[in-house]
Amino acid sequence: MWTICSSTLISLRKSLLTTHWQALSSGLTRAFLKIILSLFTMGVNNMQKVLVLLTLVMCCWASMAKAEYFKYKDPKQRLGVRIKDLMKRMTLEEKIGQMTQADKSVASKEIIKKYNLGSILSIPFPISLPAEGASPKTWVDLVNDLQSGSISTRLGIPMIYGIDAVHGHNNVYNATIFPHNVGLGVTRDPVLLKKIGAATALEVRATGIQYAFAPCIAVCRDPRWGRCYESYSEDPKIVKLMTEIIPGLQGDIPVGSRKGVPFVGGQNKVAACAKHYLGDGGTHLGVDEGDTIIDAKGLFSIHMPAYYDSIIKGVSTIMTSYSSWNGVKMHKNRFLVTDYLKNTLKFRGFVISDFQGIDRITTPPNANYTYSIIAGMNAGIDMFMVGFTYEDFITRLTYLVKNKFIPMRRINDAVKRILRVKFTMGLFENPLADYSYAKYLGCQEHRDLAREAVRKSLVLLKNGKSVENPLLPLSKKASKILVAGSHADNLGNQCGGWTIQWQGLSGNNLTAGTTILSAVKTTVNPRTQVVYVENPDDKLVKSNKFDYAIVVVGEYPYAELLGDSSNLTIPEPGPSTIKRVCGSVKCVVVLITGRPVVVQPYVETIDALVAAWLPGTEGQGVTDLLFGDYGFTGKLARTWFKSVGQLPMNVGDPHYDPLYPFGFGLTTEPRKK
Ligand code: BGC
Repeated sequence: MWTICSSTLISLRKSLLTTHWQALSSGLTRAFLKIILSLFTMGVNNMQKVLVLLTLVMCCWASMAKAEYFKYKDPKQRLGVRIKDLMKRMTLEEKIGQMTQADKSVASKEIIKKYNLGSILSIPFPISLPAEGASPKTWVDLVNDLQSGSISTRLGIPMIYGIDAVHGHNNVYNATIFPHNVGLGVTRDPVLLKKIGAATALEVRATGIQYAFAPCIAVCRDPRWGRCYESYSEDPKIVKLMTEIIPGLQGDIPVGSRKGVPFVGGQNKVAACAKHYLGDGGTHLGVDEGDTIIDAKGLFSIHMPAYYDSIIKGVSTIMTSYSSWNGVKMHKNRFLVTDYLKNTLKFRGFVISDFQGIDRITTPPNANYTYSIIAGMNAGIDMFMVGFTYEDFITRLTYLVKNKFIPMRRINDAVKRILRVKFTMGLFENPLADYSYAKYLGCQEHRDLAREAVRKSLVLLKNGKSVENPLLPLSKKASKILVAGSHADNLGNQCGGWTIQWQGLSGNNLTAGTTILSAVKTTVNPRTQVVYVENPDDKLVKSNKFDYAIVVVGEYPYAELLGDSSNLTIPEPGPSTIKRVCGSVKCVVVLITGRPVVVQPYVETIDALVAAWLPGTEGQGVTDLLFGDYGFTGKLARTWFKSVGQLPMNVGDPHYDPLYPFGFGLTTEPRKK
C-alpha cells in the first residue's frame, strides 16, 4: 500500500515538475506539499497517513485538471513550441476544419463549432454582409458572435475573418474608398501606399475583421482584362514598389526576421494577402481567368518579382489565381505553389485558394470535386475558400486522407502554416474585437489621405490646344460654367467595382463621399454659376455663354470577368457628350475609367484631357488639381494605346507606338495663393 502511495507521489512529483509546472507554483499545491511533510514529522499511524495522502492526491489531481497548462495557449512560449503543442492535440477533423473557409451567409457559431471551421469570409454580396449600411458595431457583433463558436471548441482555436478590402474597406458603408490600384501605380509613391495600408487596416479592424484579401499584385499586360484596374501597372518594377502597402496593412517585420516568415504586428494591423498567384494579369487577350501563355523566363521576370518583395515584407498569405499558366490551372500547379513558392522562396505563411477556385480546376467547374480537392491539396493549397460547400469539402477531404489518397504530412503542412499566422497575429490572445476602432471608419484623417492619393494619381494627358494656351488650371472666378457627363455627379461610378458590392453600384446612395460636381461647387467662387446637366443638348450648350465646361465621363462599374472588353470604348452617352460639349465650349474632359480606353477620335476636339482612373470617395482630390490648388504630377503607369488592334502593347515592346507612352504626364504648377 505504502509503495503504491510513494510511487503515486513520485509520479505526481514528476508531472508537477514537468508539464504541470504552473500548477506546482500555485499556492494550493505548495500547501499540499507542506501537509505531506508534516504528516511524516507528526505522530500519525500509517493507515491515517495513507488516507490523508490519498485524499490529498485526489484533491491535487482535481485542482490540476482544472488549471491544466496548455503550452500553445502560453504567449511566452516560442512560436514553434506553440504550434507543435497544438498540432499534437488536434484530431484530423479539427485539422481539416482549420483548412476550411466558409462564407458568412452559411455560417453560424454552432456550425463553426461543429465543423471546427478555421476561417469565415464575407464575399461582396448582400447575403454575406450583416445588413445594408451596417455600422461598425453591427460588424463587430457579428464577428464576435461567430468567434464565440470558435473559442468554445475543444481546443479554442480562434477563426480568422477575411474580406476584400482592396481599395480601402470597400464593402463597408461609410468607409474611406481609396483610388483603385491603377491610379495608385501612377503615384509611384511607396510611402503613400504604406499609409493607405495602415489606414485600411484600422478601418478593417473597426469592423472586427482581421484579414484583408489585398493587395492584388497582378501585372496587367492587356487592358482588355476586366481586372486591369486592380493592377498597379504593366511594369513589374512599379508593382514591386507598391508592395509597400503590405507593411502598411500588417506592420513592419521585426529586424532580423527569417525570410518568408509571416508577420502581423498586433490589434491595429491585419493579415494581408498577395494575389493572384501567378500570372493573372498576363492572360491571352486579357481574358479573365484565362491562360497566360508565356515561357518561364517571361513569367518569372514579369509576374513573379512583386511576390519576392511581398514575401520579404512578411506577407501572411498568398492567393492562387483562377488563371492557368500554359494551360495548367494555377490551383493545381505543384511546381509553382509547393516547389517554388514554399520550398525555393521559403514562404511560410499560408496559401489560400480563390473563391471556389478548386472547383474551376475542371471544365466545367465542379465536374469532379474529389479530383479538384486532390489536385489542389497536392499543389500545396493550405486554406480552401470553399464558400458555401464546407460540408461537402470536409467530408470528401476527410475520406481522402483516411484512405491515404492525400498524405497526412500535407494536412500537417497546411495546418501548421495557418496556425503560424494565427499565433503570430495574436489571435489566440485577442480573439474578440472591441468597439474602440470604430472611430477610424471613414475618419477625416483617412479621407484626407485618400484625397492626397487622388491628387497624386491623376494624369494630365493634354492641356490646351497649344502649349502657349493651357486650359488648366481653371479659373475659380468664372461667371458661368457647365458641368456635364454621366460620371460628374455619381459617387458609385467614381468608385468603380468592388465598392459596397462586387460589381459596384452607380448612383449616390451607396455610401458617403464627395462627387466631382459637389467638389466643383465648393471650390469655385460663390458667385460663379455652376450649371450641371448630365447630358446637355445642343441648344443648352450653344445658347449659354459658358466660360468653360468640365465633362466627366467614363466606364460604368464592373468587376472581374464582367469587365472584360474587347473594344475598350467609352460607353454612350460619354462620346456624344464629349463631342457635343467640346464642340462648342472650351472643355476639360475627366475620364473615370479602370484602364486606358479609346480616346484618339476625340482628342482633337478636347481642350484638356485628364485620366482620373477610379478615384474613390474623395472627389475633391480631382478639383484640387483642376483648379490649381495643387499641380499635376502623375505619370502613366500604363501605356495608352491608339487602337485596340495594337494590344497587347507594353513599354519595351518592338511594336510600341502609343498615343501616350508609359511614363507620360504633363505637369502644372500650383497656383500661387
Ligand atoms: C476574387 C478574389 C477575391 C475572392 C473573394 C474572387 O472572385 O478573384 O480576388 O478575393 O473572390 O471575394
